[in-house]
Amino acid sequence: MCGIIGYTGKKQATEIIIKGLKSLEYRGYDSSGIAVFDGENIQAVKKEGRIVCLEKELETNPLSGNTAIGHTRWATHGKPSDSNAHPFVSTAHKFAVVHNGIIENYLEIKEYLQARNIHFYSQTDSEVVAHLIEYLYIGDVKDAILSAVRRLRGSFALGVISSAEPGIIFAVKKDNPLIIGKGENENYISSDITSLQKFTGSVVVLKNYQLAKVTASDIELCDFDGCEQSVETVDVSRELADDTHDFESFMEKEIREIPAALTRALKGYVSPFGEAEYWQGINRIYFIGCGTALHAGMVGKRILKKLLPELNLFAEMASEFRYDDFHIDEHTLTIAVSQSGETADTLSCIRMVKERGGKVLCVCNVPISSIVFESDFALFTNAGPEVAVASTKAYNCQLAVLTMFALDFARLKGALTKQQFEGFMADMGHLPEKAEETLKLNEFISDFSSWNYTRKSVFYLGRGLDYYVAMEGSLKLKEISYIQSEAYAAGELKHGTLALIEDGVLVMALVTQRDLLDKMHSSLIEVKSRGATIITITPFGDNAAIKDVSDYIIPIPNVTDILYPVISVIPTQLFSYYIARAKGCDIDKPRNLAKSVTVE
Ligand code: M6R
Repeated sequence: MCGIIGYTGKKQATEIIIKGLKSLEYRGYDSSGIAVFDGENIQAVKKEGRIVCLEKELETNPLSGNTAIGHTRWATHGKPSDSNAHPFVSTAHKFAVVHNGIIENYLEIKEYLQARNIHFYSQTDSEVVAHLIEYLYIGDVKDAILSAVRRLRGSFALGVISSAEPGIIFAVKKDNPLIIGKGENENYISSDITSLQKFTGSVVVLKNYQLAKVTASDIELCDFDGCEQSVETVDVSRELADDTHDFESFMEKEIREIPAALTRALKGYVSPFGEAEYWQGINRIYFIGCGTALHAGMVGKRILKKLLPELNLFAEMASEFRYDDFHIDEHTLTIAVSQSGETADTLSCIRMVKERGGKVLCVCNVPISSIVFESDFALFTNAGPEVAVASTKAYNCQLAVLTMFALDFARLKGALTKQQFEGFMADMGHLPEKAEETLKLNEFISDFSSWNYTRKSVFYLGRGLDYYVAMEGSLKLKEISYIQSEAYAAGELKHGTLALIEDGVLVMALVTQRDLLDKMHSSLIEVKSRGATIITITPFGDNAAIKDVSDYIIPIPNVTDILYPVISVIPTQLFSYYIARAKGCDIDKPRNLAKSVTVE
């Protein structure tokens, strides 16, 4: 949801900003722009479309200078266009601003400034920030920015440069991520660590309500009242995720990485139950997240329910949970699942839960992220950087970590013996090789996709744990291939949706739960007799009834019942990938989406 990058130093800034923007493009890719201080004035170039469009524009309108800010946009207020792209330059050209977030009171401020003859040229909420700072400027840039941000409501990460104080980038954080990268006689700002890793391994993570004054040689921090704060530097790995290597897309690469990612997720699990008493009293657990992360939470809930049926367990969309009346007290644990660690809805829930006295544990893939910082405990998925907007390996690792947590908690609560626990752990240890085996289905799924990519609609059916995997499979297909798709709990279909099943509809059935086999079979007969083509993902390919009802079988390896989601989702990930490829879609950057959703 918009990416910010800034550079100040001795080098030509434009090249560095473009490099940074390319790493940040996953956060939004409908337009981008750059503003540079050229020694005299602020100059800006902005372009609708991908970063390559901005690069092209810069060939005809080159920018020169050593201090610059750049932005890649995911539109909230105002359609994607050159004029709605950031940076926004103030009327007297004294300030340029990039913004990630939403300014909730922008209309109020806009009207106030318009009444004072300040002209606006975009439909965005962000433009007000540039004009407001200029309006409040009376000789000191930091003071003007502080007075402006104290008047803003909403969420904002800001990068500001000014011709009045050349060589300085001001960075402000409230509820959206912003990081400073420390170099040798040069410094950077960015929305994430990944874009900085190619420049430096040393970062300062801004906290909420902080302003940073960044020069090439120095970083100063203060709060919104201007009180000085200490600068804490963190060293980060410089593992780069910018290359697809031999793969056609990041998504393909990331699916291929599932076995290795699972190995890391399993090895990296550290039990959070140091102080047993702290956890013993928990009687209510909410799994929250959005999209794929929510689907992982649903599986986590279902597994924990099987192990500890006496607990009150819920899996809720973060965007709904935040505004619902759930009971939260000191016996409540909220498990926030997130790949990026920056999803605004999830983050808001964490804050709300903590305010109401609940405990928060997160399952996260990005160790230096807002969700990790704001949770009481963190479990890391260790999936490695995930670049494709469609989440794949991170989901498999979320499932692995949530399953470990469920087993660990069941042991703590005395619901599993040591022997039972170790048995499950041993089964989990085989997941990477089972995933590898499942990836060998690649060729068949690729062929199958090439015969099916013109389908208008695909249904995903499952029961129990399979239903949640069906939801994930369906989301992935919609997200990158734009094919209409729905996931249904198979038993629910006949209560209305069955009316949509007709000749030509493809049904992807997930059949992995032994105790639900007969019930799934009955549901599949119902869709088969209405003309659907059925492709079944199952370890029970030899079962005569399943074989008979299915037009095609995708045979997955055997694992313990509760571990199937980690494996059975892989064919659905491959299917979405190959369908999108056959349709010629932009696999890593599907339309209208962004990897990291940092607005509510
Ligand atoms: O970074 P998060 O896991 O918090 O992101 C949550 C969702 O936005 C994300 O999983 C989204 O649904 C994916 N693009 C799905 O592939």
